[in-house]
Amino acid sequence: MIFHRKSRPVSCILPLMSDETKTVEAPAIESKELTSFQELVSLCKRRGFIFPSSEIYGGIGSCWDYGPLGVQLKLNIKDSWWKAMTDRDDVEGLDASILMHPRVWEASGHVAGFVDPLVDCKNCKSRFRADKMDAEKLKANECPNCGKKGTLTEPRQFNLMFKTHMGPLEDTASVVYLRPETAQGIFVNFENVQQSSRQKIPFGIAQIGKAFRNEITPGNFIFRTREFEQMEMQYFVKPGTDMEHFEQWKQTRLDWHLSNGLRRSKLRFHEHGPGELAHYARAAFDVEYEYPIGWQEIEGIHNRSDFDLRRHQEFSGKKCEYFDEAAKERYLPFVVETSVGCDRALLALLCDAYRLEGERTVLKLHPKLAPYKVAVFPLMKKPELLEFTDKIYKNLKTHFRTDYDESGTIGKRYRRQDEIGTPYCVTIDYDGLTDGTVTVRERDQMTQERVSAEKLVSYIQDKMLVWKSE
Ligand code: GAP
Repeated sequence: MIFHRKSRPVSCILPLMSDETKTVEAPAIESKELTSFQELVSLCKRRGFIFPSSEIYGGIGSCWDYGPLGVQLKLNIKDSWWKAMTDRDDVEGLDASILMHPRVWEASGHVAGFVDPLVDCKNCKSRFRADKMDAEKLKANECPNCGKKGTLTEPRQFNLMFKTHMGPLEDTASVVYLRPETAQGIFVNFENVQQSSRQKIPFGIAQIGKAFRNEITPGNFIFRTREFEQMEMQYFVKPGTDMEHFEQWKQTRLDWHLSNGLRRSKLRFHEHGPGELAHYARAAFDVEYEYPIGWQEIEGIHNRSDFDLRRHQEFSGKKCEYFDEAAKERYLPFVVETSVGCDRALLALLCDAYRLEGERTVLKLHPKLAPYKVAVFPLMKKPELLEFTDKIYKNLKTHFRTDYDESGTIGKRYRRQDEIGTPYCVTIDYDGLTDGTVTVRERDQMTQERVSAEKLVSYIQDKMLVWKSE
């Protein structure tokens, strides 16, 4: 036996389409979109995208583990972001540590200002963010959960940073924080990166990494969690040119989401009003996606002015200025920030890709993001077919992440791949042994085409390049 993976007894074999030289169109079927996160949570668990964390102990609130397919999808998203950022000549990469000097968070304003107003119901013990509550209910002191009046506490300011201790002593001198945003690692390294890379303003620094927030109301699957990954880029510009760069980055970031296959109709900008602006921002737009829970932020684009560099200069006593050699001018750069949650982007991509079409559930993911690009099926487990299949499989694997499945009917194998978003399935049958061709079945339209095995790699590469979301 050549293959050991996923091999189960063959229950029945469906014949391939007889007209094998032409494209075979599949009949039109009604396509339904995702209506709740619940459907997605169960698919993600069943197929190994995302599991509840520490499940055998009953789980832990709002923490999730990415399984074999989830971690690959996440890597592909990060890769798409990293390439979009660092393939540019004016953006450098960085990977700063999660634990930083505690003064960083005083300077950044997070110790004093990174707070949510917390309200408790004394009756049902529910907890709410006062700024997200219905103003009428808050005024009437009515609990949005149990409906009782007069049971809500006064709002208390709750700091979202996780505290821990560095070293063996758990005293106030040893307090450190888990970073609530990756951005500060970039600000404190501004000079290191600028001088080592010899970049001239305007230029940016990009980073991907974990961030932690002790959220009061986490939930909605991976939408709001206490541990998540951010993909952030700080673009350092000359004061006065900040709004021009801000507008450019808004468009660039929207284009990135579109390039990953999110539909334009599901994306919009939301401008922050004065009451919504974060403590560091002088202008902010969110890119919002229409999740099953409604329009929600997927990414923030902020004009942070010179707030962070000025504060770090003040708190550290070290100059954070930039010297423009040509103009013989010294100044504190302004910063335009783009900050997207990797988990939220992944959630949006799964929601956007999910379709229920008759018997099948399908993830119409962009091929560049799909965990597997191709799956290979021998029509039957006969040695001569397995040998030919093995050659094709091994060749494909050198070009694409390729899955192999020999168990169940071809129809069942298609369904399994549809559900995990594999865009192309290659079936090897007896005709292939004589004419060297295979059947390629495409995920979205379910069309089938007979293709020469020799041209399979370039055929799939070409298809991937022209893929468009529906
Ligand atoms: N450095 C700026 C900053 O952190 P933010 O708007 O607080 O800005 C940026 O966060 C992005 O990080 C959000 O758009 C979202 O995608 C993601 N994010 C923030 N809090 C999150 C949470 N609790 N769970 C998952 N993602 C989160």
